[in-house]
Amino acid sequence: MRRFRLGKSSLIPIGAVVAAIVGTLLGAGGLREAAFQLERLDAKSCIGCHVTRQPTLVHEMKLSVHFRVGVSCEDCHGDDHEAMFGRNGEVSSAVCAEACHAEQYEQFKRSGHSEPKTGRKADALALNPSRVGSCALNSGCHASRKTHDDGSTGKCSICHPSHSFSMQVTRDPAVCVTCHSGSNNTEVAEYEKSIHGVLYRTGGRDVGGVTCVTCHMPGGRHDENFNLTEVELRPGEGPLHFVKTMSPATFQKRRDAMLETCKPCHGTKLAKRALLEADAFRRAGAYALEEASVIVHQLYDEGLLDPMPGDRLPNPLSGGVLDLGANQLFDREMSMPERIFYRMYMFTFAGGWRRAYHNTPQLVTWHESEMLKTDLIELRAEASRVRALARAGVITPRPPSDAEAAAYERSRTEK
Ligand code: HEC
Ligand code: HEC
Ligand code: HEC
Ligand code: HEC
Ligand code: HEC
Ligand code: HEC
Repeated sequence: MRRFRLGKSSLIPIGAVVAAIVGTLLGAGGLREAAFQLERLDAKSCIGCHVTRQPTLVHEMKLSVHFRVGVSCEDCHGDDHEAMFGRNGEVSSAVCAEACHAEQYEQFKRSGHSEPKTGRKADALALNPSRVGSCALNSGCHASRKTHDDGSTGKCSICHPSHSFSMQVTRDPAVCVTCHSGSNNTEVAEYEKSIHGVLYRTGGRDVGGVTCVTCHMPGGRHDENFNLTEVELRPGEGPLHFVKTMSPATFQKRRDAMLETCKPCHGTKLAKRALLEADAFRRAGAYALEEASVIVHQLYDEGLLDPMPGDRLPNPLSGGVLDLGANQLFDREMSMPERIFYRMYMFTFAGGWRRAYHNTPQLVTWHESEMLKTDLIELRAEASRVRALARAGVITPRPPSDAEAAAYERSRTEK
């Protein structure tokens, strides 16, 4: 890391001399304070100019640990103002890594937070900036996966406020809420309703309050996926079409890592049982999705979706197929069975299983169990209804061509 530096004006030599004298009298902290006060007077320096423009920003910087150890504005931003404008003032992960935090960056790179969006999903984000693309804006959730000009990925400032770098803020579950709070990612709300969240909120930190960090980033590690599992694929089971799976060996390794985080407070039996119950919920949901997709595909083969995908305004990225996830443009037409399936996949299931792991019994009962099952009942009823209408000659089936059928298969491969 570069040492603390003064601005580039004529004040530098005098400043250095004065700072050195004051610094000798006051020690390292005093040196920095003296240098800061001098730079403040120099309107051509970073601090001198910006303190009049963003006084709060400079104040926060001054309170930070970075100020205390002598990191300067230039250390993070460089000294080329034009280049800063080109980057919209952003500081890349590589800058943090090269300066001091290589360990955190290496771990962070392995996490879902930095995994760049690729392929069709990235296209979708670029395609529709007014809606889908808002995910990729500076403050959007997927800004966490930003790729910088220097090739590094991720944005540390989603969790570390960029000038105060307050660890009190970063360790608080509230820092995760901007992103972990959508209709399919309600983790913060789940946690707040759990006994762990209640203990934390009521000041139980001293008696075992647990935060997101306790379970997901223990010891400050930044690869928060290291202890997460997918549905365990047991011997004899085929792959699932819509939910990721994992071999029993990998599953066990990761589960053991998660149980390790419960250990300081719980016996293995209670913790294991709680996670096993949640596994069962997720597995049941995954199989409900499989059944639902079979119903939709059968209706498709029989030409009974209304409108048939080939007859509707095509999705610019994927044609007329049922597109799951961010590529789905809700302003395009969709048949009712697909709509119900989409809701199950994107919202009821995706939002449901995490609640089970987060010990939110109310939400588990009424979402994962109740809503997923009623969605399936609705879908079966809808299938019976259109088949009856076809038998009665009220609607005329329009079976797909071979080319259409091949395209529609793609909707089975989303995960
Ligand atoms: C430890 C690194 C670090 C230091 C030191 C630092 N900054 Fe920043 N600065 C950041 C980060 C990170 C951002 C947020 C960029 C982003 O959007 O990701 C930022 C953003 C900014 C912005 C744009 C803010 C906005 O909201 O529009 C300005 C202006 C800025 N910094 C000025 C300064 C000045 C002046 C100093 C010295 C007093 C300074 N920075 C010191 C890391 C730093
Ligand atoms: C003479 C005044 C002046 C000096 C000196 C100055 N800046 Fe700025 N800086 C500005 C202005 C004006 C802007 C435009 C942003 C605004 O205020 O809205 C800006 C913007 C920025 C931004 C945000 C860029 C963006 O696209 O959002 C950063 C980061 C920044 N300056 C850092 C620095 C650093 C680091 C230094 C010292 C190397 C420095 N500035 C020196 C006036 C100055
Ligand atoms: C700026 C948005 C943002 C913030 C803030 C944020 N996350 Fe995330 N998080 C994401 C995104 C995006 C993903 C990836 C989701 C995906 O795979 O589609 C993610 C994934 C995760 C995952 C799953 C990891 C994986 O690799 O699959 C965990 C656990 C997680 N976040 C925990 C946290 C915690 C704890 C905090 C607060 C300390 C937090 N997140 C703050 C956006 C954010
Ligand atoms: C999902 C949120 C999140 C993201 C993204 C994130 N961090 Fe952290 N970081 C944390 C949390 C939470 C802690 C504190 C963990 C603990 O309790 O020790 C932490 C701690 C740290 C620490 C140790 C600070 C100390 O005083 O011990 C460093 C250094 C750090 N992070 C750097 C980074 C860098 C560099 C990046 C980007 C490459 C980054 N972090 C991205 C949440 C995050
Ligand atoms: C008591 C421990 C605990 C706490 C506290 C906790 N989680 Fe979790 N979380 C889990 C477990 C266990 C899972 C499921 C792990 C698995 O799939 O094996 C999980 C799953 C997740 C996932 C889904 C990961 C994936 O695979 O897609 C996200 C995102 C998440 N948690 C975020 C959070 C956030 C944000 C907080 C705080 C508001 C939080 N968690 C608090 C234990 C916890
Ligand atoms: C820092 C301590 C701490 C950690 C770590 C922790 N918990 Fe807890 N947990 C508690 C406390 C305290 C309670 C309140 C009930 C009690 O006193 O036993 C609780 C309650 C629970 C309950 C409800 C118990 C019941 O009797 O119904 C479950 C389930 C649970 N935790 C699971 C977990 C799992 C799984 C993990 C690890 C992924 C975990 N906890 C991590 C402290 C912790």
